[in-house]
Amino acid sequence: MCGIVGYVGKKPVLDILLDGLEQLEYRGYDSSGVAIKCPDAIKVYKAEGKLSNLREELAPHAYELAKSTMGIGHIRWATHGAPTVINAHPHTCNCGNLVIVHNGIIENYKELKEELEAKGCVFKSQTDTETIAHLIANIYGEVKDLTKAVQLATKRIQGAYALCIMHNDEKDKLVVTKRNAPLVIGVGEHEFYVASDVPAIIKHTKRAIYLTDNQVAVLTPETMVLQDENGKELTPKVEILPWEPVALSKMGYKHFMLKEIHEQPDVIRNILVGKLHTSNSPIILDEVKVNKETLKNLNRIQVIACGTSLHAAMIGKYIIEDFCGIPVDVEASSEYIYRKTVTDEHTLVIGVSQSGETADTLTAIKQSKARGSHILIITNRPDSAMAREADSLIPVSAGIEVSVAATKSYIAQLTSFYLLALYMAEIKSSMPADKLTELKSGLLTLPQKIEQILAHKENIQKCARKYSSTRDFIYIARGINYPTALEGALKLKEISYINATGYPAGELKHGPIAMLDETMPVLSILMKGSVYEKLLSNSEEAKARNARMIALTNSDDEKLDDLFDYIIRVPEIEELLSPIIAMIPLQLMAYYIAEFLGKDVDQPRNLAKSVTVE
Ligand code: AGP
Repeated sequence: MCGIVGYVGKKPVLDILLDGLEQLEYRGYDSSGVAIKCPDAIKVYKAEGKLSNLREELAPHAYELAKSTMGIGHIRWATHGAPTVINAHPHTCNCGNLVIVHNGIIENYKELKEELEAKGCVFKSQTDTETIAHLIANIYGEVKDLTKAVQLATKRIQGAYALCIMHNDEKDKLVVTKRNAPLVIGVGEHEFYVASDVPAIIKHTKRAIYLTDNQVAVLTPETMVLQDENGKELTPKVEILPWEPVALSKMGYKHFMLKEIHEQPDVIRNILVGKLHTSNSPIILDEVKVNKETLKNLNRIQVIACGTSLHAAMIGKYIIEDFCGIPVDVEASSEYIYRKTVTDEHTLVIGVSQSGETADTLTAIKQSKARGSHILIITNRPDSAMAREADSLIPVSAGIEVSVAATKSYIAQLTSFYLLALYMAEIKSSMPADKLTELKSGLLTLPQKIEQILAHKENIQKCARKYSSTRDFIYIARGINYPTALEGALKLKEISYINATGYPAGELKHGPIAMLDETMPVLSILMKGSVYEKLLSNSEEAKARNARMIALTNSDDEKLDDLFDYIIRVPEIEELLSPIIAMIPLQLMAYYIAEFLGKDVDQPRNLAKSVTVE
């Protein structure tokens, strides 16, 4: 969701900015722009749509820009104002001397805008960001110092921002600051890089500085000065990034999503290494810093997350309650933060997030932390803002996920929840030893079983083609796989724009059944176990309304052949572990439908990978 880049140093800046923006494309965007410091003045170039449009816009200017060594760039995900060239960043003040790029939302921009218009500022765009450009420029007019102007201006701003700013009169100087939005500074030799995320800088340097909220960094090719919001000088902490630059390649797959689906067996293997050796050895989870006595007596857990991570959390609830007998509440972060929640120092609060930057989850985590709860974060980004809030951090180590639709990070979150639930069950002795052994042994077989599904993906591809012309899709399941139905539907919606909905199958007859007729595909997630027969009856009810029935099953029951028009079979698995196995065909189904429809699979419309605004 919006991405910013910046560079000041000795190298030609244009390629660095464009390449950096390309590495941030996965975040989702609808327009882009750069501002380049040229010998006479800063020049701004913008375009609607994909980065290739910006490249085209820049092509005729390549020669004149070739020698420039400082600039800022932006990909915009529209919040205030349509995705047009005028609204694209960078934004400038009246005279064009000051140029900024911004990630975040300014909540009090209307009041500020009125005030600035009264002072003669002329707004060209509908964005909240332009307010910041005018505000800083106005203050600069009085104080004649960019750093000071930024510090004074940000005190007046309410909301979230990461900002990168240049001024014609401040030679070779980039000023950056942030509050509740991600920003990383890469430290090179006689140069600095600025970005919303590591992929934009990792090929240049592994040395990085993460700004904390309200800090202001002033960068020139040779120096970095770090200050707090009042101008007090601070010592920057340089970290070494645990990243490899090769991570962002499709490795021969048509899309990142397909590649990431295929990585899932290895993702699970990597997570289990060092934590689960054999079905008879105890789970090792040193990342959990809650002492064992407290864990034993824990009487409440809250899990907060959004989107796909919320679905992983729902399965987490199911297994923690089943394995450990501890009540677990799961809530969408955006709901959690705006009500009076009962959380205290006796509650374990688990935040789940692929990116570790989701604004709603981050706010919810901070609220719970302030009330004294122990914060356990399950994230794919150990370098994220959420990770920095964690008392216990379980990194899911799925590797960077580029496709906006989460796949391998979801499977990694589930695997981490299984380890956590089994770990707590061992400490609490809440599960019979033979059941523990059976589940651990089942976990160890998952990678191989997923490989079997991937080896027969043509059947899923065929199914996807058969149903790709539908406008609606219903997924039904019961028990532990109800969240799988939600996640299957979410995947399809996200990348194919088909109206897909997941229901607990028992709820069908309380309303949704009215939707069923011969045009409606209904996919039953029919895993053997406690609710198999019940779900079969619910599927019969749907069939009786002429729905087009699809089964995703690990049963070879012959009666399924009469009931279902299409059957996708997956390997046998213990019911409690089946959400991982069941999800793989649903990811593939969504992928193949979207691919068949010619959709932009990795960067679906309107979506952002990292949702850094509330
Ligand atoms: C997943 O496919 C989605 N793109 C989205 O629902 C995502 O899961 C959600 O925005 C939460 O993101 P997070 O896991 O990074 O917090």
